[in-house]
Amino acid sequence: MAAIFNINAQDKSYLDKKKPIEERINILMKQMTLEEKVGQMNQYNGFWDVTGPAPTGGSAEEKYKNIKKGLVGSMLSVRGVKEVKAVQKIAVEETRLGIPLIIGFDVIHGYKTLSPIPLAESSSWDMKAIEKSAEVAASEAAASGINWTFGPMMDISRDARWGRVMEGAGEDPYLGAQVAVARVKGFQGDNTFRSPLRIAATAKHFAAYGFVDAGLEYSASEVNRNILYNQVLPPFKAAVDTGIRSIMTSFNTIDGIPATANQMLLRETLKNKWGFNGFVVSDWASVREMIYWGYSPDEKSAAKSAVEAGTDMDMEGGIFVPHLVSLVQNGQVKESLVDDAVRRILRVKFELGLFDDPYRFLDEKREKEVIGSKANRDAVLDMAKKSIVLLKNEKQLLPLKKEGQKILLLGDLAASKNSPLGSWRIASDNNTAVSVLEGMQKYKGNSLKYEKGIALTQEEPTFLTEVQYNTTNREGLEAAKQAAKDADVIVMVLGEHGFSSGEARSRTQIDLPGLQQEFLEEIYKINPNIVLVLNNGRPLAISWAAEHIPAIVEAWQLGTETGNAVAQVLFGDYNPSGKLTMSFPRNVGQIPIYYNHYSTGRFTNKDGNVFWSHYSDVDKTPLYPFGYGLSYSKFEYSAPKVNKKTFAKGEKVEVTVTVKNTGIYAGKEVVQLYVKDDFASVVRPVKELKGFEMVDLQPNESKTLTFSLGEKELGFYNQDGKFVVEPGTFKIMIGGNSADVQELTIELL
Ligand code: GLC
Repeated sequence: MAAIFNINAQDKSYLDKKKPIEERINILMKQMTLEEKVGQMNQYNGFWDVTGPAPTGGSAEEKYKNIKKGLVGSMLSVRGVKEVKAVQKIAVEETRLGIPLIIGFDVIHGYKTLSPIPLAESSSWDMKAIEKSAEVAASEAAASGINWTFGPMMDISRDARWGRVMEGAGEDPYLGAQVAVARVKGFQGDNTFRSPLRIAATAKHFAAYGFVDAGLEYSASEVNRNILYNQVLPPFKAAVDTGIRSIMTSFNTIDGIPATANQMLLRETLKNKWGFNGFVVSDWASVREMIYWGYSPDEKSAAKSAVEAGTDMDMEGGIFVPHLVSLVQNGQVKESLVDDAVRRILRVKFELGLFDDPYRFLDEKREKEVIGSKANRDAVLDMAKKSIVLLKNEKQLLPLKKEGQKILLLGDLAASKNSPLGSWRIASDNNTAVSVLEGMQKYKGNSLKYEKGIALTQEEPTFLTEVQYNTTNREGLEAAKQAAKDADVIVMVLGEHGFSSGEARSRTQIDLPGLQQEFLEEIYKINPNIVLVLNNGRPLAISWAAEHIPAIVEAWQLGTETGNAVAQVLFGDYNPSGKLTMSFPRNVGQIPIYYNHYSTGRFTNKDGNVFWSHYSDVDKTPLYPFGYGLSYSKFEYSAPKVNKKTFAKGEKVEVTVTVKNTGIYAGKEVVQLYVKDDFASVVRPVKELKGFEMVDLQPNESKTLTFSLGEKELGFYNQDGKFVVEPGTFKIMIGGNSADVQELTIELL
């Protein structure tokens, strides 16, 4: 038995590793007081110097005292072996039962060594690379004492005004589910947590947070059941089926009920229907915020509604500890609900091995070895290269020649070592990215000149400040214009600062902010040979650039190895293979815009009149569609074929297609398969992604791919949440993006 527990429990056999976890939970819970049970449901944000003397005064002192009373089950934002050990020691050695804390943190796209923002990663369509990226993040977090991450975020969204689109995997539930599974496997491994470098993951935000009204952060999401079942929930269901250990509730309402108190979502769907056996943590103070929504009249009601709905842990809300005990004692909340919540939380703590050794994640030597290792940097570089999407490449500007060229690099962002880290990098250190300038300087065969040009922002933003873009100061423009005169090619890095997207970063405009559009046009007038490299956390409305600029590279915020990834793509050492996972609108007025939309009763102006579904000012199609991305290669597709045109329920159909690389570079192509249910009991989208495969082809090489279609690919959730497959014809479409496809029809009898 672990000797470190200073516990007064009569029956210490819950520490016996040989016993099954459920039995160990029972033995422990039998000895817990109601206060201690509620304590497990309480999570605090650590914000005092836990390695220093005990805090005095204010909430820090109250938190410290509550830990010693066994009234805290988890901490977030305490990180680093020294810090975590200090706070874990209090829980394990100074409380009656010595129940270890579970230590959570936002490890969203890396811990210290940062991967690309998740939206960028999803553009790789490379599940192995995405899994590896999460594994690297888990290893560094675990080596720092963290055993639970608040990720992956898997909110489907079609609204680039919302800042948190950077945190997800785009607009499609099928791809979103695959990315979710890859990330859960990267964080949790095989779910045994035998390795001290794996951590529990959290599927967030449950649910429909990505559908906030008008992209306005923290507002309502009133989605209907069709959207909920067919668009929003599939990634969460896939994560639960992969064994994810926790779920985080979302800030928004559904059906006018805050998600944190939404029985339909938490108790009925997640716990009862899906059989989820981990625990549900609220989002930050979202239990308390039910009062501000005008849903709970007071704290007691908020505590009651949340725990009855199925929220098991109160993150930094300070609601469960003061009220749940009396609610149970007065018979207003069943103790069985508290027991269920505590059982779930203890289960994950036992699974993480925290009862076998509460200090197993706390090895200072391992912390030094793992964090920032070369292997980790290589992994995030690989991820970054694969996340880059080539949007346009005319005049064969790309790849850049490796010698004999006069290259001018322009833009504040080109030299930034901070912005490319993205917004969810709170464990990392500022200014630790390889900048594009640094990456390009490694290619010595050309003359490379750099000019900052017009400043992007008034001052360097931080995680806590609004980004103030420069809209008045044109200093640097003249020098850039002069330098542009005799350059053979100009690389301009423009876009958003890394803190322009992420939580609480909604925008009503999604064009190039500040004076960047003016900067781009001024340089274009002098020298049109421009390669535009975008740094952004959301789709941007870049119609002018799309029309005028010969080469455009979508480089998101790529994390620690940004500059090396961008340079290797620009110089052709990596042939870009990314494909967009969110539609790029022509302008913000088109939002929400997404590929898997419904048809309409008036999709053409066959009568030549105005009474059809269109805008009078722009084409209603996206600027760049879902699944779109070019390569330095060219790929040709054969017409797809099927092994049978009609099939019966339960049968599968095999679809084959041959893809040939007709270019001069070896390259990867993400072959995409879409399905349309022609007629159904509810209208179905004009197409839905139901399969994809990446092929790696040498010049002139062909490969034939086979996709297997069955009920899983052809069915949908009806209004009652039941998965149904209805007979009739289906269109099968295959191509290199959602717009350029070849189709055929099959029929389910
Ligand atoms: C934030 C976010 C959530 C995060 C949590 C802890 O408000 O909504 O995604 O995990 O609080 O930082």
